Amino acid sequence: MSLLTPAHLDGWCLPNRVVLAPTTRARVPGGVPGELQAAYYAQRAGAGLVVAEGTWVSERAVGFENVPGIHTEAQVAGWRRVTDVVHALGGRIVLQLWHTGAVSHPAFLGGRRPAGPSAVNPGEPVHTAAGRRPTGTPREMGVAEIEATVADYGTAAANARRAGFDGVELAANGVYLLAQFLHPRLNRRTDAYGGSPANRRRLLAEIVEAAAAHGRVGVRLSPWWTGGLFTVDEELRAEYEELAAGLAVDYLHLRGPDAGPDFAAFARYRELFDGMLIVNNGFERETGDAVIEAGIADAVSFARHFIANPDLVTRFALGHPLEVSDPAVYYGGGAAGYVEQPAAV
Ligand SMILES: Cc1cc2nc3c(=O)[nH]c(=O)nc-3n(C[C@H](O)[C@H](O)[C@H](O)COP(=O)(O)O)c2cc1C
Repeated sequence: MSLLTPAHLDGWCLPNRVVLAPTTRARVPGGVPGELQAAYYAQRAGAGLVVAEGTWVSERAVGFENVPGIHTEAQVAGWRRVTDVVHALGGRIVLQLWHTGAVSHPAFLGGRRPAGPSAVNPGEPVHTAAGRRPTGTPREMGVAEIEATVADYGTAAANARRAGFDGVELAANGVYLLAQFLHPRLNRRTDAYGGSPANRRRLLAEIVEAAAAHGRVGVRLSPWWTGGLFTVDEELRAEYEELAAGLAVDYLHLRGPDAGPDFAAFARYRELFDGMLIVNNGFERETGDAVIEAGIADAVSFARHFIANPDLVTRFALGHPLEVSDPAVYYGGGAAGYVEQPAAV
């Protein structure tokens, strides 16, 4: 078993175990994917599974410049073009649904303050049109606003299905709305959405249910996230394990420690979670093969290698060297550094 062995699991039929990790490239002015995005995903359709970049569930979710949405008809039509192309090339594609919560800026929200679980400033940078800006203290979301957010996720999942996606992924990596609710230092609520671990998980549970009504659902967890108030400590990491054990979803996408793959840490999640397990963060061909060979994960996702090597699966198959990605082209711009990398063959 290796990255290039097919996987037939719980209704997933992947020709290889190399997953394109969700990767924000901030090249969608107006939020409607176009021909550039169709070309970008077409180039990467050889992945066993494509997880398309974090995408707004509603106007209220916005908190990053030039990121696409899935809440208007034009956006659904734009994404339909992308999924048609990926499917025509024999690929499978799910959409990551994104809500930035407290990590947004009034510039994105018509001058209104961002809303989060509680009025606690997360102290994170926000990518605005005017460059990186610090977060302020958010408003605490009211219960009606939380219910509207769950409904937005349900509508976004229904829209993703209409746009031809094979499922959705919930909870973007890092410090965004769902992770904010899980975090006891950011979620100080005393109602049904805060306090006990079960209450802090309630929003995610309700969103999983709302999305599952429309097709397959994966959840992304980052139990080793570090950064300001959001750092996941030992106690919260234990809560993440409880959360993973209770998840009834089609796959779990686990982002490991930044220091690189930690097989023992991933193996714990393998025991806790029944469905397809995708692991991530700092993998290379050799470590990817090894984690599959050991039976610890079903698939491995790659972000930075896929930025610089759209034909990553072909390069793995041929044993060709990889190009190194350039952080200067990650966010913003046009075709350069996006769809213009040379193929290995
Ligand atoms: C340019 C860039 C954009 C990213 N965008 C997202 C995103 O939209 N959603 C998400 O969950 N993670 C995002 N990530 C994190 C990646 O999915 C991945 O977890 C991380 O890059 C580690 O994997 P790698 O070592 O294969 O690059 C992004 C990473 C990069 C470099």
